Amino acid sequence: MTERPYVIDEMISAKAIAARIEELCRDIHKEYGDTDKLIVVGLLRGSFVFIADLARELDLPVEVDFMEVSSYGDAMESSREVRILKDLRGQIEGRDVLVVEDIVDTGHTLNHVMALLRSRNPHRLRSIALLDKPTRREVDFKSSWIGFEIPDEFVVGYGIDFAQRNRNLPFIGSVRFTDPD
Ligand code: PRP
Repeated sequence: MTERPYVIDEMISAKAIAARIEELCRDIHKEYGDTDKLIVVGLLRGSFVFIADLARELDLPVEVDFMEVSSYGDAMESSREVRILKDLRGQIEGRDVLVVEDIVDTGHTLNHVMALLRSRNPHRLRSIALLDKPTRREVDFKSSWIGFEIPDEFVVGYGIDFAQRNRNLPFIGSVRFTDPD
């Protein structure tokens, strides 16, 4: 398959992301300031940059854990199946948990993960997503905290890929195809 040529236009700068993370952490402190230890759970792979910056901005005792999920759709079905490829290493029963995600699109991934983790009886369970595309939602899901609401554009950078590329861009960019198609 030949790759379509594209350019990346900056949508959210690294500076704007850092400033928003500071604000979000102030809100998280209000909710979790009394915690013994907050478990921040990153959903691989897209959240790896966000969780690194978020965890370092949190002035709380923090444990870090990861899950990897894969969602795939059948073109004939509107619902999507979410599979757990890697589960948490630790137990979360009675613990304070914050699930960290790069983007909420249809909502299936976080909706599924939150239901699964809720069934393990954590003390407090919240989610945070850097980006939200509300116009794409297929399930009734709302993240506890959102960094930025964005339009339905193809975005990359700050952990988010296009065919596994561009995850290492320090900003969020939108992909613009430059071929005549
Ligand atoms: C992306 C993103 C979210 C999910 C959001 O993951 O990182 O996990 O899709 O989509 P949804 O709201 O429609 O469920 P992807 O499957 O591309 O894997 P990745 O994190 O490894 O890039």
